[in-house]
Amino acid sequence: MWSEQTELEVLQEIYDLTRAAGAKQNWRKLLTLGYRLERDLKRKLLWIWPTALDLKRLNGVLRQLDIHHVLSIGCGSGLLEWLLGAVADQELRVYGLERDPNWWCSKYAVRSFIPLNYIEQADSKLSPSFFSRCCSGVAPCALLFCYFNNRSAFLEYLSAFEGKWLIIIGPQPALGIHTDPNPLQPQLPDKQWALRDLCEWTEQNVVAIYEKLDII
Ligand SMILES: C[S@@+](CC[C@H](N)C(=O)[O-])C[C@H]1O[C@@H](n2cnc3c(N)ncnc32)[C@H](O)[C@@H]1O
Repeated sequence: MWSEQTELEVLQEIYDLTRAAGAKQNWRKLLTLGYRLERDLKRKLLWIWPTALDLKRLNGVLRQLDIHHVLSIGCGSGLLEWLLGAVADQELRVYGLERDPNWWCSKYAVRSFIPLNYIEQADSKLSPSFFSRCCSGVAPCALLFCYFNNRSAFLEYLSAFEGKWLIIIGPQPALGIHTDPNPLQPQLPDKQWALRDLCEWTEQNVVAIYEKLDII
């Protein structure tokens, strides 16, 4: 068991790695450090810790599909989003959206690795322009849901989204962990979404990329 002190030290080391000069180069070191953490703390930072190969593979697919601006809904600490951006360097921008700013700004929450947008913002009526405001004024071409578990919110986000890519990260159904949407059984609201790519990730996780067919 890690003592609380040790956990805090490791956490600090992780934050320092993301803030050092040339921090993006540190993503492999950060992953290695993360693998040493206890599961509870690991999960506070990120539900699924991908391997370097997982991240590289996904980065290759995103590049191939010309996906460069992603808005991650329910991004939590934003560590996955930071990692994706670091691996891709200038090729990819990943922004984050969360709910409950009171929690994320409280002393109990882990610090965020990326600036967070909140659904409770005054201008947060779900719309394409809200999504753009979350992404520094650029319309995101993909929405990302990683270990998201809120069906009604998922459907609302999807219906307000005018881009054509949907990325869902989560467990394989056989793993017995419930997320909604599940990447392989997302029950998308209409037949316009087609599965375009799948990346198998570590510990029986999957990244599924869907394309909306009626948008050219
Ligand atoms: C299981 S956590 C996953 C966090 C992160 N994506 C990860 O993989 O570590 C689900 C997250 O979704 C967020 N969430 C739930 N409903 C939401 C909503 N309507 N809008 C934005 N975020 C939401 C929760 O606050 C929580 O941080």
